[in-house]
Amino acid sequence: MLVSAEEMLTKAKQGKYAVGQFNINNLEWTKSILLTAQELNSPVILGVSEGAGKYMCGYKTVVGMVNGMLEELNITVPVALHLDHGSYEGAKACIEAGFSSIMFDGSHYPIEENVEKTRELVGICKEKGISIEAEVGSIGGEEDGVIGAGECADPEECKMIADLGVTMLAAGIGNIHGAYPENWAGLSFETLDAVQQKTGEMPLVLHGGTGIPDDMIKKAISLGVSKINVNTECQWAFQKATRKYIEDGKDLEGKGFDPRKLLAPGAEAIKATVKEKMELFGSVGKA
Ligand code: 13P
Repeated sequence: MLVSAEEMLTKAKQGKYAVGQFNINNLEWTKSILLTAQELNSPVILGVSEGAGKYMCGYKTVVGMVNGMLEELNITVPVALHLDHGSYEGAKACIEAGFSSIMFDGSHYPIEENVEKTRELVGICKEKGISIEAEVGSIGGEEDGVIGAGECADPEECKMIADLGVTMLAAGIGNIHGAYPENWAGLSFETLDAVQQKTGEMPLVLHGGTGIPDDMIKKAISLGVSKINVNTECQWAFQKATRKYIEDGKDLEGKGFDPRKLLAPGAEAIKATVKEKMELFGSVGKA
């Protein structure tokens, strides 16, 4: 059964480790992540962006697929199904469809509007026992070929949002989605520390987990990060393994064209990436 992310993140914050959010794109992705979490006895959060939700035929399809897998693969570790960077409408649609966790990303609104919309969604989520993530300070990344820098959140604004009773808070600390540019200044631990001081027990979320050096990840966890989002790194792992399979001519041998064979190396590569991250984040054995 899907669970809210609240308990797993409270435990992570207390135990000074982080739970990984791995974004899913299709059946293979979901299966690889769930099997790895089970094998390592780790809690896990499956992230679904609005675009990926649409790709997978809508939120109800996603809920059906994930619930089916939990049962048929005998997954017993805590699993949260979480909307990633949701709009106000998207958040409501996911709550309706049966997600156990949502993110409302109001970081592009003026802070007053972010507060109002987050407040309303917190009320709905509390009633349903669903966890909710909010965001302050936008996370940069590549959009139309331009890499935007990650903003640093204002700790006072973080406190305003945290005080609304959200489950976890994503605060921009110079992190971005996708690859980091050569001249990236690194994470702002000064900002992270200031946010943590203001928000106390609130589990903090680090987006853009791909490409952040291990020592920075560990330091971020020591400063209050309890959830780390990884997406692009699984995509690269899948892409590299699939490319190799085809370049090695494996798809031309015997029944190598069978999608169950063609997609298998990519699925195994996702498992290896998820395992590596769970070990780095310290969530192994914490289910
Ligand atoms: P990356 O794609 O950089 O790993 O970021 C994932 C993320 O933060 C999803 O919200």
